[in-house]
Amino acid sequence: MQDLSSIISQMTLEEKAALVTGASAWTTTPVERLGVPELFVADGPHGVRRVPDIHALGAPSLPATCFPTAALLASTWDGDLLHTMGQALAEEAAALGVGVLLGPGVNMKRSPLCGRNFEYFSEDPHLAGELASSLTEGIQSKGVGASLKHFAANNQEFQRFSINAVVDERTLREIYLPAFERVVRRAKPWTVMCAYNKLNGVYCSEHHELLTEILKQEWDFEGLVVSDWGAVHDRVAALKGGLDLEMPGPKPHRTRAVIDAVNAGELDAAVLDEAVRRILRIAFIAARTPKGGEFDAAAHHALARKVAAEGMVLLKNDGILPLTNPQRIAVIGRAAKHPHFQGGGSSHINPTQVDIPFEELQELAGSATLTYSAGYPADDSFDQALIDEAVAAAQAAEVALLYIALPSYKESEGYDRTDLDLTRQQIALIRAVSAAQPRSVVILNNGSAVAMAEWIDGVAAVLEAWMMGQAGGGAVADILFGVVNPSGKLAESFPLRLEDTPAYINFPGENGQVRYGEGIFIGYRYYDKKAAPVLFPFGHGLSYTTFAYSNAQVSAPSFRDVDGVTVSVDVTNTGAVAGKEIVQVYVHDRQASLVRPSKELKGFAKVDLQPGETKTVDIALDFRAFAFWHPGHKRWVTEDGEFDLLIGASSADIRERVTVKLQSTLDLPSLLNVESTVRQWLEDPRGRAVFEPLYQQMMAQMGAAFGGGESDAGEGAIGMDMTNFLMETPLRSILGFQEALLPAPADAIVGDLLRQVHGG
Ligand code: BGC
Repeated sequence: MQDLSSIISQMTLEEKAALVTGASAWTTTPVERLGVPELFVADGPHGVRRVPDIHALGAPSLPATCFPTAALLASTWDGDLLHTMGQALAEEAAALGVGVLLGPGVNMKRSPLCGRNFEYFSEDPHLAGELASSLTEGIQSKGVGASLKHFAANNQEFQRFSINAVVDERTLREIYLPAFERVVRRAKPWTVMCAYNKLNGVYCSEHHELLTEILKQEWDFEGLVVSDWGAVHDRVAALKGGLDLEMPGPKPHRTRAVIDAVNAGELDAAVLDEAVRRILRIAFIAARTPKGGEFDAAAHHALARKVAAEGMVLLKNDGILPLTNPQRIAVIGRAAKHPHFQGGGSSHINPTQVDIPFEELQELAGSATLTYSAGYPADDSFDQALIDEAVAAAQAAEVALLYIALPSYKESEGYDRTDLDLTRQQIALIRAVSAAQPRSVVILNNGSAVAMAEWIDGVAAVLEAWMMGQAGGGAVADILFGVVNPSGKLAESFPLRLEDTPAYINFPGENGQVRYGEGIFIGYRYYDKKAAPVLFPFGHGLSYTTFAYSNAQVSAPSFRDVDGVTVSVDVTNTGAVAGKEIVQVYVHDRQASLVRPSKELKGFAKVDLQPGETKTVDIALDFRAFAFWHPGHKRWVTEDGEFDLLIGASSADIRERVTVKLQSTLDLPSLLNVESTVRQWLEDPRGRAVFEPLYQQMMAQMGAAFGGGESDAGEGAIGMDMTNFLMETPLRSILGFQEALLPAPADAIVGDLLRQVHGG
């Protein structure tokens, strides 16, 4: 590595200020006299969007493989596969002259309405963090950087440039930050991209706690923080917050502002130097990777097909799939001829080639006759003639395959959905076709959950094919004909109705603010806690074979939090064809001092099994698998006690369970304070030890102070249960009521007890 300190010491203030804002839409400013190269970045995340004109943001990009988007990638639950895909992305990036790929995006799917959910992994931070780490490691293993985005709490498109996400500390730590934390700690991304929005009143681009204290100091992030494109409003404030590189550029007035601030003593030169150092480091590392040349487009197309097939989720199947040699197939739906395989916006790739689903079907259908009817128009009009034509075709066939794509006017980067429905025509089409032809299969292309209550009962099978990438058409055919046994599982819950969703009342906010009122209860954490029904639960996905779970074991029934524990289970393929099962481990805390979800995903594995084959799956659970963020202690906390390890095929299909006992190694300070209630004093071991004698005295005196006329129900003279009242009242207040009887003022007594508890 170059001697960065020496280079920085030779740079002028003007050169430094110029470096921290981009030179173009996609490049940084080189410093030729010192050998500092430019850094070239490009979207991201599931393909390389290399725009030839570096000053154009949205111009047509050079051809690159369009892999499936993150919604599908997450449904693979397959880190190794995503690592391989990451390598392919990096090869293409390097060939196209790109040093950093702008992705992956690991924002949580707080509401299925978020228009950009197709670019995000999951509603679960553990799953998103692990899979995005694998993808990032794959990309970076080939000498190309990743840019983890959008940091943080960017969970909607509505007013995304300005909305203030109001998120409490625990929710932030347990839901919205862990995927970022995991990728930063495990995969060490070269860059992290800040979000557009505000978090608790401060733009993420200026958020010192987020960018400096948490990301750089607590998580040891060594790369550079880049702004989302246009997220910086005050360059100097952003530098102070920890934002190293502003994009896009050039912006001479920003450079000027930085120079002026340093000269005026408003910006510490050391802060600027640190941003410069981080940018230089990544620019030099990126420059080591040779750029240009070719990539193997055919091999990457084949990989895209494989990934697509791994992440498609068979949601429903009454036995019609895999197809058994039908001779007359009615193919219905525009998406069969005009595949909808990616989302709109900055991630839009110019594909190297595109599989046409209809042609791919024909390829596998052999001599079968395929008819095609569009079924629905390209726009939002309603056309009954298209439905009538499709019904006639379905009636004349043995099976109807409906290719239904949620149009981009309903779902895209830049705006949120307003409902969870398919279009009016698509719903009418599915209902009419399936009424005429019960052997109807629906293949969906969409980026996040859709509602199906209006039509699902009438159809024989539903395949969720997501935004499946350029080779998705082939992957769908592979699954329909059983060339590939489906193995994807949902990385997000599919609700019955929009009104059932956790954020429904608080989405997308108003008056410039969105309150994350559901707290830590998003996705299955919410539905589980409420025991509310869903259409398809988190983790659900069908196979053409069946799996049995048995013999769940733990490495130790009792363990220390720092040692963790390993759970194992035998999984057997009990069906007739080879298949892959995704084994999920959820942790249930039996008792905690703060409210916790009923269960949380903390481990998973995908296992490949031949018919009759059994494999033992081991899943390790560490400290964090059992911990929760305690806002009082401002840290991750474990508590002694029993935990159930739930091993399942989905969040709603738990097959095995083991109970373990955790011993916490933490020696946490007491949280007792002047406001603590009598109950809190008794529940706190240190508090109880010093408070007990006084408590006994209080109980004895309680009758005298409040008593007289005790009823059978234990009510005192004023008609309340005095013990309950005592328990929920601050000790200071209770003592205050009886101050005349006390040797000292209530405040002094409580102060003395607190000194004994906290020391000093
Ligand atoms: C998006 C980013 C993207 C950037 C550059 C922004 O509007 O939010 O995800 O990387 O543009 O295209």
